[in-house]
Amino acid sequence: MKHLMDINDLTLSQIDQLIATANDIIADKDKYKDVCKGKKLATLFFEPSTRTRLSFEAAMIELGGSILGFSEAQSSSAAKGESVTDTVQTVGCYADIIAMRHPKEGAPLAASKRTTVPIINAGDGGHSHPTQTLADILTIHREKGRLSNMTVGVCGDLKFGRTVHSLINALSRYEGNEYICISPKELVIPDYVKANILEKNKIEYIETTDMEEYMPSLDILYMTRVQRERFFNEADYVRLKDSYILTPDKLKSAKPDLSIMHPLPRVNEISVKVDDDPRACYFKQVVNGKYMRMALILMLLGIEVK
Ligand code: NCD
Repeated sequence: MKHLMDINDLTLSQIDQLIATANDIIADKDKYKDVCKGKKLATLFFEPSTRTRLSFEAAMIELGGSILGFSEAQSSSAAKGESVTDTVQTVGCYADIIAMRHPKEGAPLAASKRTTVPIINAGDGGHSHPTQTLADILTIHREKGRLSNMTVGVCGDLKFGRTVHSLINALSRYEGNEYICISPKELVIPDYVKANILEKNKIEYIETTDMEEYMPSLDILYMTRVQRERFFNEADYVRLKDSYILTPDKLKSAKPDLSIMHPLPRVNEISVKVDDDPRACYFKQVVNGKYMRMALILMLLGIEVK
């Protein structure tokens, strides 16, 4: 594997390897502190980000490497009309590895054809976000001790939410997972996700607008925000944005070992009153994301740490 465009670019044994490396880093951070000395990571973010970009940068710094890049298209030559592929080809002359986020689906893939350094898709439009899924997978693995045989509730903007598409893609490769897809009718899972992943693999799923009805059956509840930036019409966003707000009251019927997840940023989907619930995992996802990105950087650079 040279680039990471989609979570399916990784085999299940590579995912196992990333989990093992991330857990090893967590157990012995010192062992990893110089392993990327002299290597440079570029973060090219054509779309806003807090966690993903800073997590990649922190990951490279903690491996002893250096970082460069930009955090908005307006401060790059994109503002002068340069094509994404030219920008990435240029940065490939300075950096050893590139993490890139872009509002257009497929932009990182197009860029990966024009550079010799590994490119990581850090989110492309409403399509996919494989490194968030790596953060989610490590979190589930550490919380539940397994990645199979779970009832996974995904709730919110299932149409434009790229983290949900990548998560369903990943968990569908493990035995016995089924989904409760909770969303307003306008924001259901895209047909291509249903056809190419769920139906093709005969995976059970239910589509519903009702979060509370299915709460008692869930092992994971993955909340997401309504993706304002993908809407054509502000009035539709305003109408749909508060469709689901998770409160302690709504969690009363949930399993004691439910994992409450959210890729963040949260807007209104989870009341801050839920933050002290021991089942809340969303800030653990933030922590785990950095370790999985460290493991991924090592894998893509071909660096083995004994
Ligand atoms: C997500 C994204 O960018 O898709 N954020 C993140 O990377 N953690 C989720 C979101 O923006 O809603």
